[in-house]
Amino acid sequence: MMDTLNIGLIGAGRIGKVHAATLAYRIPAAKLLAVADIDAAAAQQLADQFKIPRATAHYRDVLSDPAIDAVLICSGTDTHARFTIEAAQAGKHIFCEKPIAHSLAEIDQALAAVHKAGVKLQVGFNRRFDANFRRVHDAIRRGEIGQPALLHIVSRDPAPPPIAYIQVSGGMFLDMTIHDFDMARFLIGAEVEEVYTQAGVTVDPGIGAAGDVDTAVIMLKFANGVIGTIDNCRRASYGYDQRVEVFGSLGAVSTMNNYPNAAVLSDGASVRRDLPLNFFMERYTESFAAELIAFVHAVLHDTPVPVTGRDARAPVVMGLAAAKSLHERRPVRLSEIAADDER
Ligand SMILES: NC(=O)c1ccc[n+]([C@@H]2O[C@H](COP(=O)([O-])OP(=O)(O)OC[C@H]3O[C@@H](n4cnc5c(N)ncnc54)[C@H](O)[C@@H]3O)[C@@H](O)[C@H]2O)c1
Repeated sequence: MMDTLNIGLIGAGRIGKVHAATLAYRIPAAKLLAVADIDAAAAQQLADQFKIPRATAHYRDVLSDPAIDAVLICSGTDTHARFTIEAAQAGKHIFCEKPIAHSLAEIDQALAAVHKAGVKLQVGFNRRFDANFRRVHDAIRRGEIGQPALLHIVSRDPAPPPIAYIQVSGGMFLDMTIHDFDMARFLIGAEVEEVYTQAGVTVDPGIGAAGDVDTAVIMLKFANGVIGTIDNCRRASYGYDQRVEVFGSLGAVSTMNNYPNAAVLSDGASVRRDLPLNFFMERYTESFAAELIAFVHAVLHDTPVPVTGRDARAPVVMGLAAAKSLHERRPVRLSEIAADDER
């Protein structure tokens, strides 16, 4: 067993910084040896901030470094499949941000390369490591609510991203709902067989002009009979709205939003509290750390990673099915979505 995992980071943007901080301060068994970003200044800045020995503009410098055991792929989504394949061929274990790709063909190529190389791959579905959702998951596994029957996921962002982001995002289902598709499978512990989408534009006509939607309800039918809904909106006036409820034969389990404090203010007009934590960086901070701790542990102890290649692929199939359902105005079975005719 290795006692220290030497890591290289590719992509020093928003999420790369979060993971670098976790490695620097919270995982004594991991050492960040190098950071690569095509923006050399961004790589250098991160290296200075976290005392990373090497900064480079070329991701291959990281992949060819024999001292590095594992890489974190935190560059833009369009690079993930290629970098995963090259990292696997270089014999590196891989933590890759979600999603691996928007296309099933590319995901399948990446998963095949990982399988062939025999390296570990964990995908960044961080919400599985959130304490609220984990407790809901555990309640279901332990039978605390009996046989689950209904699942409701509410997942609304505080504000939409810029239109330029929307245009390359792969659409709301693959960009935003993908976390909720993963959450649905994680909580219920079964595959979804059919989806039915109602969606439109209620937030910004510019999103509609870019060919996307900003508001949706997606109905899910699971193989084990559970029926679910995912309720998404790109803008909630009161901030980030992230809640779930699962209803079963013996009871229900639900989670509310997370708040920056627990103060309740009462006066002659109302009883009120501050708004929920505003977006994913604040709301899911702990889960970003917990997923990396789990990855480092799995590699060092040679145990299975908690989020697998199969987990990486399934939500993309669900996203493609949700989009097909919207366009064809009918329920779509996931078996209709195949890698060779997905678009
Ligand atoms: N799990 C989550 O909740 C979560 C949250 C945010 C982002 N993400 C994912 O993380 C990825 C990055 O998102 P972000 O918000 O950090 O983006 P970002 O734009 O802030 O950062 C991406 C960085 O990658 C660099 N980069 C691009 N191409 C590169 C290349 N060829 N080689 C090296 N570096 C390259 C860019 O210069 C940039 O610094 C996306 O796939 C996104 O979906 C996941």
